[in-house]
Amino acid sequence: MVITGAFWGDEGKGKIISYLALKDKLDVCVRTGSVNAAHTVWFEGKRYALHMVPAAFVYEKCRLLIGAGSNVHVTQFLKEVEETNVKNRIGVDAQASIIEEKHSMQDKTSAHLKGIGTTGWGVGPAIEERVRRTAKLARDIPELKPYITDVAEETNNAIDADKKVLLEGTQGLMLSLFHGTYPYVTGRDTSAAAICSEAGVGPTRVDEVLIVFKSFMTRVGAGPLPGELTKEEAIKRGWFETAAGTGRDRRSAPFNFEIAKKAVKINGATQAALTKLDSVYPQCKGARSFDELSSDAKEFVREIERQVGIPVVLIGTGPEALDIIDRRK
Ligand code: IMP
Ligand code: MG
Repeated sequence: MVITGAFWGDEGKGKIISYLALKDKLDVCVRTGSVNAAHTVWFEGKRYALHMVPAAFVYEKCRLLIGAGSNVHVTQFLKEVEETNVKNRIGVDAQASIIEEKHSMQDKTSAHLKGIGTTGWGVGPAIEERVRRTAKLARDIPELKPYITDVAEETNNAIDADKKVLLEGTQGLMLSLFHGTYPYVTGRDTSAAAICSEAGVGPTRVDEVLIVFKSFMTRVGAGPLPGELTKEEAIKRGWFETAAGTGRDRRSAPFNFEIAKKAVKINGATQAALTKLDSVYPQCKGARSFDELSSDAKEFVREIERQVGIPVVLIGTGPEALDIIDRRK
């Protein structure tokens, strides 16, 4: 299964992945992308904002991998491995590239990148260096030695053995270098096809593409956001958020069906998850079954299904991994 974001990231992929890890007992989870993305996971009363470690770490038997297409921040990786206590079950592909302090400096001092409102981690400059073929790779870094593996080999072997494998995307389609709101995008394609490519898994091997929608849209940094609300209005509606990674204000707007349709199409999504339904319909907070939802909330879910043409199988009703309505069976 591939997990992908529909909007500008921060849809709640971390929460959905942590739920699936625990509920479905995932065998393998491969993270793609880089350190710019923070995946929030609430687990046993503790909040994690993960920039490197896959969100499936909450299930203690899950093998955690970082794909060849990813970009590894070594100190952040080592810090999170410590915090999540996953030293003996995490691996990094030998050919993942390395993001360094100099990339962050280049990012922060570029007027152009400042105008885009990047996260400042240096992901754009690090990818530029990779494209020039002068970047360091994970295999060149002594501290990563205990973690080095062949992620494509491990992942494809797991699929051959009928194990449960999840590929964890970062950001959302509207931040895709190819399909998003260029130039206000991140430094990579964020679609399901790119997630497969970064992990080293061919498209014929994927059973499900699960797209994650939030019940309203947010974006951090510059660039268009259709239907954008003022900060005052966002606060009034209970939609005002700050970024898990950088602490910046998130801009917000109501759910947009046209963007949702485009994201389903380009990702080839087969199922959807809808997060934060309780932020739009507060009486839904903590609901664990569809019947518990108010009639307007049910109607919103059905309207999404009608318009995008795929089922909404998971519905988030609170922050904890298990605050979810699971309609899969
Ligand atoms: P960069 O990826 O740091 O180069 O930033 C480019 C754009 O993508 C900026 O608008 C960032 O705010 C946005 N961005 C990058 N990663 C994330 C994320 O994980 N969540 C939300 N926005 C992100
Ligand atoms: Mg995030």
